[in-house]
Amino acid sequence: MRRIGLLTSGGDCQALNAAMRGVVKSLLNSGEQIELYGFLNGYQGLINGNYRMLDWADFSGILTRGGTILGSSRTPFKTIREPDENGHDKVEEMKHSYYKLNLDCLVILGGNGTHKTANLLREEGLNIITLPKTIDNDLWGTDMTFGFQSAVDIATQAIDCIHTTADSHGRVFIVEVMGHKVGFLTLNAGMASGADIILIPEIPYDIDKVVKAINRRKEGGSKFTIIAVAEGAISKEDAKLSKKDYKKKLEKSPYPSVSYEIAERITEKTGQEVRVTVPGHTQRGGSPCPYDRVFASRLGAEAGRLILKGEYGFMVGYKDREIVKVPLEDVAGKLKSLAPDATIIKEAKMLGISFGD
Ligand code: F6P
Repeated sequence: MRRIGLLTSGGDCQALNAAMRGVVKSLLNSGEQIELYGFLNGYQGLINGNYRMLDWADFSGILTRGGTILGSSRTPFKTIREPDENGHDKVEEMKHSYYKLNLDCLVILGGNGTHKTANLLREEGLNIITLPKTIDNDLWGTDMTFGFQSAVDIATQAIDCIHTTADSHGRVFIVEVMGHKVGFLTLNAGMASGADIILIPEIPYDIDKVVKAINRRKEGGSKFTIIAVAEGAISKEDAKLSKKDYKKKLEKSPYPSVSYEIAERITEKTGQEVRVTVPGHTQRGGSPCPYDRVFASRLGAEAGRLILKGEYGFMVGYKDREIVKVPLEDVAGKLKSLAPDATIIKEAKMLGISFGD
């Protein structure tokens, strides 16, 4: 009999359910006796001992279901050692829940912050396996995270829809794409939807270069311009600021997000109308795309295999087209971002896409 805990932490994404189903299906198909404990709302459930016992019926029919059947929440790593509302040490509370239920292992699905805490729990002696979820695809140690391809589909559709109305009205449109501090999502959705300008955090932009690209299109007879802007896009001037000063600047900014400031600058410099569309959390919602269903199921199956072998302390990832196990200590605290000289950027430039650099 193996007693396995499951939890989903951080911002949700598509295919969390598919991944958990993959873990459970592979364990059940091995003929192993298992008991499943689902901690509710991420690490909060583990801290508060808030769980429910799960059986196969809970995992049936959820391959295509978005969100997470366990609920999720953000439990910032930087405050993990601070006492909770009852004055208790959160890490000790988590260990207590684990040992009280006599768990053999805890399967944790999450992104960057989640992995820092998962690694801490590993250091504290818990048996941990993690699965890489995030629409941002910014997790170190894996070429791909589940949720990413589904989000690319949604952001692409959003930009596709903007294309037709931008064409009708001859407008400049900005579509702001999620991705936190990295540009994978914006780059892929932008290229997939034929965006003319793509602004990503890894390549700070010069607003005059952006304007130049818009004018070039106008001179070439194009009525409209589509700009895909990553929510973390940054100008060359702002990139020179310290992280602290830039954070302060953003806090004081009168704009709801970076796109609105870019829009205003473009209008000032060109006199052209600019509209901003922010698909926001729609990018994390709805059913996982077929790629993510397959990918998350594969990761889940491998997690099941590692559990059966008693190999703990790994994230199941994807490297060079293979499902691999990556030591948690290598993953925790590292961000994966786009290299400004990546071949995909060079190819995008060859297609005439401007990065405003
Ligand atoms: O990490 C996933 C993500 O959707 C980012 O792209 C975005 O910056 C952030 O989460 C939004 O977080 P929240 O759901 O807490 O607003």
